[in-house]
Amino acid sequence: MSKVKKSQTGNSISAMNDALQRFKPLLSEQNFHLLLGELQQPLQQALRVNTLKNADPAESVSRWAEMYGWQIQPIPYCETGWQIGQAKVPVSQPIEHRMGYYYIQDAASMLPVSLFKMDPSNSPLILDMAASPGGKTTHLVDRSGDLGFVVANDSGRDRITMLRLVLQNWGALNTAVTRFPGEKFGQWYPDTFDRVLLDAPCSMQNLRSTEARPMHTISSREMQTLSHRQQHLLWSALQAVKAGGQVVYSTCSLDPEEDEVVLDAVLERAGAAIKIETVDGLVPVSAAGLSSITADENTTVFHPQVGNAVRLWPHLLKTSGFFAALITKQQSLPVEKEPAPKVSSSLDLIPLKSRDARQITDQLLQCYGFDFKAVMEAHGLALWQRQNVLYAIPDAWWKYFNQLPFQAVGMRVAELDNGLTPSHEWVARFGDNFQKGVLVISGEQTTAWLRGEDLTVGIPAGMSATGIVAVRDELGRLYGRGKAGSSRLRNLLPNRWVVSG
Ligand SMILES: C[S@@+](CC[C@H](N)C(=O)[O-])C[C@H]1O[C@@H](n2cnc3c(N)ncnc32)[C@H](O)[C@@H]1O
Repeated sequence: MSKVKKSQTGNSISAMNDALQRFKPLLSEQNFHLLLGELQQPLQQALRVNTLKNADPAESVSRWAEMYGWQIQPIPYCETGWQIGQAKVPVSQPIEHRMGYYYIQDAASMLPVSLFKMDPSNSPLILDMAASPGGKTTHLVDRSGDLGFVVANDSGRDRITMLRLVLQNWGALNTAVTRFPGEKFGQWYPDTFDRVLLDAPCSMQNLRSTEARPMHTISSREMQTLSHRQQHLLWSALQAVKAGGQVVYSTCSLDPEEDEVVLDAVLERAGAAIKIETVDGLVPVSAAGLSSITADENTTVFHPQVGNAVRLWPHLLKTSGFFAALITKQQSLPVEKEPAPKVSSSLDLIPLKSRDARQITDQLLQCYGFDFKAVMEAHGLALWQRQNVLYAIPDAWWKYFNQLPFQAVGMRVAELDNGLTPSHEWVARFGDNFQKGVLVISGEQTTAWLRGEDLTVGIPAGMSATGIVAVRDELGRLYGRGKAGSSRLRNLLPNRWVVSG
């Protein structure tokens, strides 16, 4: 067997060779040869365009390609995704990335959310059961037009901050972040969601080891534990979705124990109550799930529907290894219902009286020529206040999850310390729509701005009654918000976006 790339560490090379040994019998000789050839090539980067901030994703990506010297290629199953070949400016560098105009995501990871049928006009209720860091949550937000309500859950305590930041940067309005074991949702909220994504915790046997995500060797005991957890999580996802609703199960592992074996087990348990759908036409290559596996001379033949899943070997579309299946729930499943937990103390969140809310949205309209009241009405949101902070909170949260403890919900709109100070995420989401309250800075000034420096600039008197202006450059690129003094623009770019040096 030929050896794989030299840049990897000893451990990940041995994990890779071990995985290749195990996977070799799953492929024809010709396909295995193609796979080895593909693994000699570097994995192409890819990005997904934020449809909340780019009205025409294809136009935006062509403009960036021109500006930053990128070779771009559309991803066939994801209409907002592009693979990037050569790149003069690294994809992570442009201001558009920092401001959440696109998300850098492996092309394979764009598959699961693309499998859902989605109609934003029905405001679908969506659960992302294992969501952090949130790449697929942002895709769900886009596909539901930010009109559906997305609960982004992850059980990992140290995974929540990243999830919150990714959603903030995307500019999502209609989301909440929760931290619970996904296994609980089926019992707490049976037959509730229109769509559930389970991008399951897995062994990452995807044949694309990177420095950030090296492959490790997995013992058969660890694999069994993972496979059982995946089955429990998938069962909970199937309980939580409504009859007629859809679940997508995905892993970034090609190990059959985490993929076909999991689907086969839930099919056996659920019988005709669930159906794995074919996804013909979406993926332009033959990428069927396995029909059987043989281990220790014992062959397991899977339920015929398991073959409807998508097994994305890296050589098929030049991606990481990936597995995904679209499941429709035909009828309810048995559930031992349990009450969901309730917040123990008062949230201190107070809804704004309609007169006060109108005063705020009138002021925003006056300052920025932007009608936030209309946006809130279209998206089913209302203004709430906690201490001095103003939030736009989805009505769906109160309707369905009233008492459930949460980590974050809706969008921070402004602070109310000395008057109204619009938040970074509010300006970053809507700044392109402002008709007023915008200050244009020169190319040279943008370099200083990105280093976090204040600027000395002439600012027309009365430019913004809130004192906060959206900052753009001459090409119309948004650089966040600044606080306008008479001749000084205070830099309010979040620290995490400031470049040192
Ligand atoms: C593959 S990652 C999810 C990646 C994410 N969907 C994305 O696209 O950015 C799996 C996640 O599952 C979380 N997790 C592990 N066990 C879980 C459980 N029992 N319930 C919910 N989340 C869990 C992990 O913390 C991890 O963030």
